[in-house]
Amino acid sequence: MEKEFRFSYIQHKSVDALNEADQELLHAAEQAAERAYAPYSNFHVGAALRLADGTVVTGNNQENASFPAGTCAERTALHAAMSLYPAATVTTMAILVKGQERPVSPCGVCRQALMEQRTRQQVPLRLLLGTSKGPVLEVSDASSLLPLAFDGSFLQG
Ligand code: THU
Repeated sequence: MEKEFRFSYIQHKSVDALNEADQELLHAAEQAAERAYAPYSNFHVGAALRLADGTVVTGNNQENASFPAGTCAERTALHAAMSLYPAATVTTMAILVKGQERPVSPCGVCRQALMEQRTRQQVPLRLLLGTSKGPVLEVSDASSLLPLAFDGSFLQG
């Protein structure tokens, strides 16, 4: 039996097409990218997430001379938020790379981390994959970026 996953997303022409709250979040991600520590890749990524109560938490990539020890912007922001507000719901996360006109997409490890949060909060976690001047992609739920995901239910035997 063949099974199928369907994936769709919205492509906005630019940040101007977004509502005020989303524009604000992308701007926060842009500012976070400015504070990234990325001396090895020179790829400065910022992430900003909004919690259900409106609180915004940001993060950026933190690199290390021992490359695998570095962390992506998405996980920095997500783990900072959940360490401060363990019961919170992340409604939207905006991600942006400094100076790039092509929206960035979260790496596989970050998709797994977003999936964990999605399972934890039980409601959709929207993503805005942005640029400063170019297009912005809107993904209504991070879980759609990781079909057939591994989650805690497999550990229950
Ligand atoms: N990076 C992120 O922070 N987020 C992404 O979505 C892709 C990659 C970082 C990791 C590393 O510091 C640099 O970008 C180059 O891979």
